[in-house]
Amino acid sequence: MKYGYFDDDRREYVITRPDTPLPWINYLGCQAYFGIISNTAGGYSFYRDARLRRLTRYRYNNVPMDLGGRYVYLRDDDSGEYWSPSWQPARRELKDYSCRHGMGYTTIGSTYNGIEAETRYFVPLDETLEIWQLTVTNHREVAATLSAFSTIEFCLWDAQDDATNFQRNLNTGQVEVEDGVIYHKTEYRERRNHFAYFACSEKGEGFDTQREAFLGRYRGWDQPAAVEAGQLTNSVAHGWSPIGAHHVKLVLAPGETRRIVFLLGYHENPDDEKFDPPGSQTINKKTVKPVIAKYLDADRADAAFDRLHRYWESLLGILEVKTPDIHTNRMVNIWNAYQCMATFNMSRSASLFESGIGRGLGFRDSNQDLLGFVHMVPARARERILDLAATQLPTGGAYHQYQPLTKRGNNDIGSGFNDDPHWLILGVSAYLKETGDWSILDEPVPFDNEPGSEAPLYEHLRRSFSYTLDRLGPHRLPLIGRADWNDCLNLNCFSSTPGQSFQTTTNKDGKVAESVFIAGLFVHAAHELAAIACRRGLHQESEHCVAEAAKMEQAIAQHGWDGEWFLRAYDDFGAPIGSKQCEEGKIFIESNGYCVLAGIGLDDGRAAKAMDAVGKYLATKHGIVVQQPAFSRYYLNLGEISSYPPGYKENAGIFCHVNPWVMIAEARLGRGDKAHDYYTRINPSAREEIGDLHRCEPYVYAQMIAGKDAPTFGEAKNSWLTGTAAWNYYAISQWILGIRVTYDGLEIAPVIPQSWPGFTARRVFRGVVYNIAIERKGAGNRIALTVDGAPIEGNLVLAPRDGRREVSVAGVLT
Ligand code: GLC
Ligand code: GLC
Repeated sequence: MKYGYFDDDRREYVITRPDTPLPWINYLGCQAYFGIISNTAGGYSFYRDARLRRLTRYRYNNVPMDLGGRYVYLRDDDSGEYWSPSWQPARRELKDYSCRHGMGYTTIGSTYNGIEAETRYFVPLDETLEIWQLTVTNHREVAATLSAFSTIEFCLWDAQDDATNFQRNLNTGQVEVEDGVIYHKTEYRERRNHFAYFACSEKGEGFDTQREAFLGRYRGWDQPAAVEAGQLTNSVAHGWSPIGAHHVKLVLAPGETRRIVFLLGYHENPDDEKFDPPGSQTINKKTVKPVIAKYLDADRADAAFDRLHRYWESLLGILEVKTPDIHTNRMVNIWNAYQCMATFNMSRSASLFESGIGRGLGFRDSNQDLLGFVHMVPARARERILDLAATQLPTGGAYHQYQPLTKRGNNDIGSGFNDDPHWLILGVSAYLKETGDWSILDEPVPFDNEPGSEAPLYEHLRRSFSYTLDRLGPHRLPLIGRADWNDCLNLNCFSSTPGQSFQTTTNKDGKVAESVFIAGLFVHAAHELAAIACRRGLHQESEHCVAEAAKMEQAIAQHGWDGEWFLRAYDDFGAPIGSKQCEEGKIFIESNGYCVLAGIGLDDGRAAKAMDAVGKYLATKHGIVVQQPAFSRYYLNLGEISSYPPGYKENAGIFCHVNPWVMIAEARLGRGDKAHDYYTRINPSAREEIGDLHRCEPYVYAQMIAGKDAPTFGEAKNSWLTGTAAWNYYAISQWILGIRVTYDGLEIAPVIPQSWPGFTARRVFRGVVYNIAIERKGAGNRIALTVDGAPIEGNLVLAPRDGRREVSVAGVLT
């Protein structure tokens, strides 16, 4: 069953019924002001940090679900009937409901009793506000007398405090209303220099700022007393729950359309100019008023929308492909790239599954996310890399997370996730390959943000590398620490106390448990570092990296191979995990996918064997599960992985993030059919038809799909903010389609399905447009290339020497 359709030409997903299995969301904003918005206008907004600067309220575990949002009510003043054009919260039966989620905007509309209404929501570039453009059309034969009400509920800035500290925050709420603009200024009197505002382009009939006055006692958003009465009360909030509500009257002749603009924004004043007049307690509005006036103007709001539209067009224009597979095309060209930008902006903070309160930016997550967005916003990728590196510890270790607002490492979680440091090498390598900007390596970057400790970024990479060599275990494999990529494989935390954190409670000395996954990751990172060192003229260092990688491969061959696949780890007792000898958890995806991705076992048949085993034991029709057999009970020596019921999350769920490692591994083996088949199994667009099973949005990846051991096999969860976005984008574009960025140029090495006659692509790389056409003439992956008609040796396309900005690359596969 489908709940909508893709409108690829407009780069939109159109939802055609409001009662989707879960709220299907989109993101507003791409710089500093952000919001999430569901298909029924639910969601919330924040400035930079979803916990510490939250503008509006949202309750994650509310019923009915997805309540609290950017709501508009319309009321027929003749009959007294009212409805919400976005369905929620009034939930009347609507005609022609549709929600168009597009690139940085969402438009939701419907018709009710001959009145058509739609609202387009977006955040203009370079501003800290959102615009709601409401359009109302009277399709009746007679004039309509209507009231429009817009509402939001303010959050008292710190979302954690807002949801817990009632004894205080029921007393702190404050607002000002001036010229019809509602200003939310809770805590402005003391240490805040920021406030929020909610404005309307029309001269209103009234307003409300106290929730109870608007809703009435014991009522919800589905039947606000003030809307029912057709009249707001001009309430001014003192404590309790400040809201913003505007009332606009509309008399529409038959066929007439009216447009109204609402603005919700965030504004800061200099600390010494907070009040006007100085010494008063009134917000100084001198700098905010011109901003409000600008965007309440319908034409200027439209112009801001057009600018946003062009911005996305240019970002998505960097890689465009035309293959025989529609699902590949729309994910690569539109949604997967878009999702990568969301993971860049949000990391894992704010989605329908991430409360915005919990996590800062993950060190490993953010480095991996780079793979998916570096080509679109290289300057911001550079900044992100430097921020991440500045949290690195002098040991080479890394804080697992840092707070975006302070950019400081997060002490609660601390460090000791022994895979973390290597992701910095891979993040930097992705940046260098894309941009060729080698100057980043000389950038001085502190350790642990300690002034005076600055060293060139390159030195940070060295420390990442030696971090592992300083921490080898009994088999000369890397010690795992608190966890490796799999946060839930906790081999040094024997926790028997409910509620204890599996990641931060480490009660073993950590000198025995080793990770074969980190070993594979180390080999990969070592080769990248060697390549980087070599290009910096550090040949000895480069050789050293290669030699250490070889030693690690040796250790893997001796102690990390189980006969048919790569082992996963050794536990604190030195017993293997992910081995035939194990009762449960005999084979894992991570070590197999990553070792082969790193090139291990390609020359001696182990790689093919391992991938065959993955295909046989782990692959399902909905994707590849983490391990098999699932853990049927809790294992003290394994930790959180065995805390989940079988088939969910790390316990044999289909963790979509790691599926692309297997796709890349298959591509490295030259098995294009397999690689693309795995790609398709978790491709959300290809799963659109099974919407009732999949349940999450069909336009973005979810972190997890329930595995075959779960009663809900095939059901997705945790959509949007997941490393899945970047890795799938990377796997399909660089390994399957094979348009691969390298330090020296663009490599063209497709490993595509046998049945494909070819494909075309346009890739902008380091300022040059490459128009690529691949034609299949034989069944293999051998490629012969011509550049502007002239044959070249090998498959590396170098930048044109004569300064041309556009070249044609033709490839024939045989
Ligand atoms: C989550 C984390 C990520 C981790 C993965 C596997 O997605 O954000 O860092 O690698 O889970 O545990
Ligand atoms: C839980 C999740 C895992 C995530 C971790 C982050 O352990 O299962 O996916 O990476 O939390 O802290």
